[in-house]
Amino acid sequence: MLGPPGSGKGTRAHIISELYDLPVITTGDMLRTAVAEGTECGKIAKSYMDKGELVPDDIVNGVVRERFQKPDVEDGFILDGFPRSKGQADALDQILEDNNIELTHVILVVLDDKVIVERLSKRRSCPKCGEIYHLESKPPKKQGVCDVCGAALIQRDDDKPDVIKHRLEVYAEQTKPLIKKYRDQGLILETSGVIPMDQLRDHLKELLG
Ligand code: AP5
Repeated sequence: MLGPPGSGKGTRAHIISELYDLPVITTGDMLRTAVAEGTECGKIAKSYMDKGELVPDDIVNGVVRERFQKPDVEDGFILDGFPRSKGQADALDQILEDNNIELTHVILVVLDDKVIVERLSKRRSCPKCGEIYHLESKPPKKQGVCDVCGAALIQRDDDKPDVIKHRLEVYAEQTKPLIKKYRDQGLILETSGVIPMDQLRDHLKELLG
């Protein structure tokens, strides 16, 4: 899943995961877990995440490489939020080669920056199962409580307007150039970020064939 922060990558990744029974590998969630657990990697990651900067490639690449040791990736997986830099794209190429895996699609979510700022300020997330909500377009059934696992929902620290603005700049500088790489490989499938929630499932089914 490729696209700017808040464009709907996570929301789509969860739907595709349900449709095709595939695990979602979300680097943002993995890093937030490391931060919550207070690991060495988490402590370093936090200082970057709080500012909306990318966590250094060696840390993220290591986390992803380790994740690929788990057997559940054998029948496929969805990468959400990785790669985000040239160094990460190169590392992914190497991980795929080492594991004899072929990348089949790169889903690019396209959405205007103005809509992104509005969406992120009204996002609520489940820190336990990763389910994503929006106060208007996808509210939880019970206020502040995850429908899936019952945990208390949170507002992410990096969903503040000035941090969101910087995340968008970082995306434009470091991640957007990857679109060309994957377009040249014929892997990009573009999807609009404004497709209404209740149509997303059918849309993604059609997009992925
Ligand atoms: P990460 O957690 O990956 O955040 P992000 O990429 O900035 O993306 P988001 O999770 O904010 O948004 P999303 O596109 O998944 O949108 P969502 O579906 O939630 O990364 C956070 C930080 O971790 C980074 O800044 C960095 O520091 C670090 N990090 C992570 N990966 C890294 C890496 N590879 N390298 C280095 N550092 C890394 O949707 C947003 C909102 O919109 C939700 O409320 C949702 O309900 C709503 N919404 C979604 N779709 C629709 C729709 N169709 N209609 C209406 N509302 C919708």
